[in-house]
Amino acid sequence: MLSLWLRLCKLKLDKHLQGMHLLTATVYRLIQITDPHIRADSEATLMGFETRKGLDLVVAKISEDTTSPNAIVVTGDIAHDYSDSSYRTVAEAVLAFDCPVHWCPGNHDDKATMAVVAKDLKLGGDQIQLGNWVIQLLDSAVPGKVFGTFADTELAKARDLIASHPDTHLMFGFHHQPVQQGSRWLDELMIKNGKAFMDIVRDQPQVKGLFWGHVHQEEDQIQDGLRLLSTPSTCVQFAPKSDGFALDRTMPGYRWFDLYDDGHFETGVVRIDGIEMNVDFDGDGY
Ligand SMILES: [Fe+2]
Ligand SMILES: [Fe+2]
Repeated sequence: MLSLWLRLCKLKLDKHLQGMHLLTATVYRLIQITDPHIRADSEATLMGFETRKGLDLVVAKISEDTTSPNAIVVTGDIAHDYSDSSYRTVAEAVLAFDCPVHWCPGNHDDKATMAVVAKDLKLGGDQIQLGNWVIQLLDSAVPGKVFGTFADTELAKARDLIASHPDTHLMFGFHHQPVQQGSRWLDELMIKNGKAFMDIVRDQPQVKGLFWGHVHQEEDQIQDGLRLLSTPSTCVQFAPKSDGFALDRTMPGYRWFDLYDDGHFETGVVRIDGIEMNVDFDGDGY
């Protein structure tokens, strides 16, 4: 009788512990910042806006919201002047979080200088493993061009990752947009072979989402079950759905992701506040 009672107690305890396990599911916090467009001169401006100030304010905002992110990604247009010191400025700003930092190039980047600084400052490579998640960064930048293209090697990387990780939750990040976003001038500067890439990632249940920069604006849409996310720059913003170049009055910001063990994720954009956007709204490009 006593042993039956003990067994019942153990059964109850096991159920309780299982419930506790569900309540304490692991969540990984990933932060994306993008398009800081930093110059070596700390007071340099882009369209009238001090880009260094934007980066510093966004980093301060992240530290208000998240004490210890699990990883940070910077999705291109990092150094507007391609200088070694600009890359160091951006990397050191986010290395202050004491977590792995990863980056991929945009059209305003020099891949060789990025590689030197990444090695020197021990940045992570193009793949981020967080529990049962893999976040793969891809290179969409074409030297000397503003638009993007995925080289065959990058398309193969995506294809191979999906084939070799049937039970892993996957996400891809890069600089240029792979789909049109309804802004004529920006749509001309998208990834030229974006459709080939979308054909690879579409209808693959383990691929949960894609995120990028370049368009300096927030978007969050679902296509064929895939979450497609663009993220504001840490400096100036582009007006959505505009035929020609136009700036927007929205503030700089960043994107956070909470990645759950079961493969679902939550995400959102946070913007800085409390500053005047000193931007040259009449400018026609940069
Ligand atoms: Fe940019
Ligand atoms: Fe760009």
